[in-house]
Amino acid sequence: MRGMLSPSLMCADVLNLQSEITVLDNLGVDYIHLDFMDGKFVPNITLDASLIKAVKSVLNNMRRDIHIMAYAPEQYFDRMDIGQNDIVSVHYEACDNIREVLSLIRSKGACPFIAISPDTPADTVKEFLDEIDGVLVMTVYPGFAGQPIVEGSFEKLSAVRKIIDDSGKNIILEVDGHVSWDLCKKMRECGADLFVAGSSSVYSKGMKIDEAVKKMTELIK
Ligand code: DX5
Ligand code: ZN
Repeated sequence: MRGMLSPSLMCADVLNLQSEITVLDNLGVDYIHLDFMDGKFVPNITLDASLIKAVKSVLNNMRRDIHIMAYAPEQYFDRMDIGQNDIVSVHYEACDNIREVLSLIRSKGACPFIAISPDTPADTVKEFLDEIDGVLVMTVYPGFAGQPIVEGSFEKLSAVRKIIDDSGKNIILEVDGHVSWDLCKKMRECGADLFVAGSSSVYSKGMKIDEAVKKMTELIK
């Protein structure tokens, strides 16, 4: 699978979200990463459900990559209008019965991903491989942009990659957190397919978005 990009909207210019999205779409970017937080599972709040729904109406070819950092994520699915072409990541640590939640995502026509926080071992995903289209590995603690990478993240990416490959299934490995210019190549070598690009890469200050997307696409190909 070629490396794919998912710029994180919480790192974009919040006063110009529509134009920021359209620029990425016109550049042929695969996904737009949309972080939803409840202020409880993580101590922060970013994009709200109605905004995530509204994003749908301005997309052309780009797809939504919705990352829900919230307890009982299923309560937000209708408000976000999740459906075909969406990736929906829910956290293992935030669900009482994640199997049911993953199957609900599937029933709405979207692609269920399981997200794991840094302290959750790679092995955790093993028992869900039949139910998911992807694994989102957090390489920072969820909640905030601009954090340093957590130690052991490369080993964890490689471990999840191995679990996926051993299963013979076509499952996407997504990496979220400090996907920087310096580290994205190594993350690719560890087997990541989908890269959430935030303040440490495409939204780093002083760089034009078209140049940044081009540079990143080259590094992760
Ligand atoms: C949280 C977010 C952040 C962020 C990534 O889930 O997805 O991880 O936008 O950007 P940086 O590069 O700041 O870690
Ligand atoms: Zn995210």
